[in-house]
Amino acid sequence: MAEILIILQVVLMAVLIYFIVSSNKGMKTKKIIINKENRKEMDKLKKMRSIALTIPLTEKSRPKKLEEVIGQEKGILALKAALCGPNPQHVLIYGPPGIGKTAAARLVLQEAKNNPKSPFKNAAKFVEIDATILRFDERGIADPLIGSVHDPIYQGAGALGVAGIPQPKPGAVTKAHGGMLFIDEIGELHPIELNKLLKVLEDRKVFLDSAYYSSEDPNMPDYIKEIFDNGLPADFRLIGATTRRPDEILPAIRSRCVEIFFRSLMPDEIIEIGNNATAKFGLEIEKKAEKAIGEYCYNGREVVNLIQLSGGIALNAGRNNITFEDVEWVIENGQYTKRIETKISKEPQVGIVNGLAIYGANQGITMQIEVSAKKVLGNKGTLKVCGMVEEESISNSNRRIKLKSTAISSVENVVTVLNNIYDLNCSKYDIHINFPGGTPVDGPSAGIAIATAIYSAIKGIKIDNHIAMTGEIGVLGGVKPIGGVKAKIMGAKKAGANIIIIPKENWSSSLDGIKGIKIYLVESIGEVFNKVFYKNEELRFVENDANIDILSASLRDDIKGTI
Ligand SMILES: Nc1ncnc2c1ncn2[C@@H]1O[C@H](COP(=O)(O)OP(=O)(O)OP(=O)(O)O)[C@@H](O)[C@H]1O
Ligand SMILES: [Mg+2]
Repeated sequence: MAEILIILQVVLMAVLIYFIVSSNKGMKTKKIIINKENRKEMDKLKKMRSIALTIPLTEKSRPKKLEEVIGQEKGILALKAALCGPNPQHVLIYGPPGIGKTAAARLVLQEAKNNPKSPFKNAAKFVEIDATILRFDERGIADPLIGSVHDPIYQGAGALGVAGIPQPKPGAVTKAHGGMLFIDEIGELHPIELNKLLKVLEDRKVFLDSAYYSSEDPNMPDYIKEIFDNGLPADFRLIGATTRRPDEILPAIRSRCVEIFFRSLMPDEIIEIGNNATAKFGLEIEKKAEKAIGEYCYNGREVVNLIQLSGGIALNAGRNNITFEDVEWVIENGQYTKRIETKISKEPQVGIVNGLAIYGANQGITMQIEVSAKKVLGNKGTLKVCGMVEEESISNSNRRIKLKSTAISSVENVVTVLNNIYDLNCSKYDIHINFPGGTPVDGPSAGIAIATAIYSAIKGIKIDNHIAMTGEIGVLGGVKPIGGVKAKIMGAKKAGANIIIIPKENWSSSLDGIKGIKIYLVESIGEVFNKVFYKNEELRFVENDANIDILSASLRDDIKGTI
């Protein structure tokens, strides 16, 4: 019996030794295979790293200092005030595409570090994330912005995973701790992510959860406990950039940020950006070519692309200077469209008035509203409005309201005012109002301009072509305040107007410094008419002329005092 037991023991020992030796061998061969694979991939990587193309012009031409960002002096001043002092704040930058928002944001941290009073230390990081490509998992498995938890059930959870320990994965908000987090195109951020971000801004840390976390677990490492109990640090300043309008951005994020506006670029600024890019490319450019660039490019990115391509043509032809023909070829083949600059008409006309509108990110533009009026028999006139939004829908998270367009309503207000105050029976006319240009116009701020144009068309009186106007009209003829007044004044100035009529309530001392345009403040439509109409076709500006019969004769006595 004892012998059998000894034999069994020996056999068992032999089997055990065999297993140990073979598993060791297996591990060794596994290690050898891994090492071999590692060497192969490292060689491949090194080979790839040794290959490099030349630095693209788009990268070369990127501004390296804030001073190199052209035309955004005011925006940059505001950006510095918000971020480079001792108490930096969160910022939202609005502006049309390609005008330097990202370029300026990338440079502002360095500028802040130059100020000894700034809380951004030398090691402060600038973390950039693009909301258009940000993907996240609603269950919190993956979230590159906020952070996530790698639960031990997932494959590849590593040694901690095997031990059943959840692992926090820091997101961009934590990586930006102590520095700046730049979210490009923040308007495209998913509402769920935006709400999570608001919470992080509030707490200045991120709280993560996992069903696998237990504070009682004695195996739980201290640092994991610390993170789950006290949150991951996320104290940063946010810079969000967007091409959207402020009213398209969630009020909750807007109210936590300083709002800064970058503007569209003027042709001479486009030329300056083009010249800088040409110099960085080591080329020269003809004067005529420069001018064409100013006429065909709307933003900085377009200029850089155009210079890159026309520079390529020049270099391939063995030249060092970009000619007008090079630029012309790119313009034609790239189907660039010429900049349309609205200009005021050359002379006063009946039924044409310079209204003002806002497009894109707070850009003011002059828009010539045209009205024709034809008398019809009886009271059967029609009212036709073209180029306006007919219906608007306002939606908040769970409600959608359809409204009759506020612009169409403002036309109806105008007709009521003209009927009631000036006894102008608009229903005796076929009236056609046109908002040319194809941009959807809305907002009641065109009220006084529409009233002026209808009055002019019916009475056949010319409107001063040097005047542009903006203001909402009330049914009793009062002029009410509107939004975006400063941008509109700039738009009027750009189009060549030298007088602008705005509601009195819109006056603020910040408008005082605007040079090259006279601002008239009005409280009633009567005051507008007094300013804009030429008397008896003469090119004489009529100002508060009590004898203008058409303006005052039919004004109802009871309203006269208030209007
Ligand atoms: N104001 C400017 N001054 C100098 N260069 C500019 C300016 N605007 C744009 N550029 C050039 O165009 C490139 C693109 O600009 P940037 O990325 O800053 O645009 P953006 O305003 O962020 O546009 P988007 O809204 O499309 O992201 C810059 O790298 C720079 O070369
Ligand atoms: Mg950008």
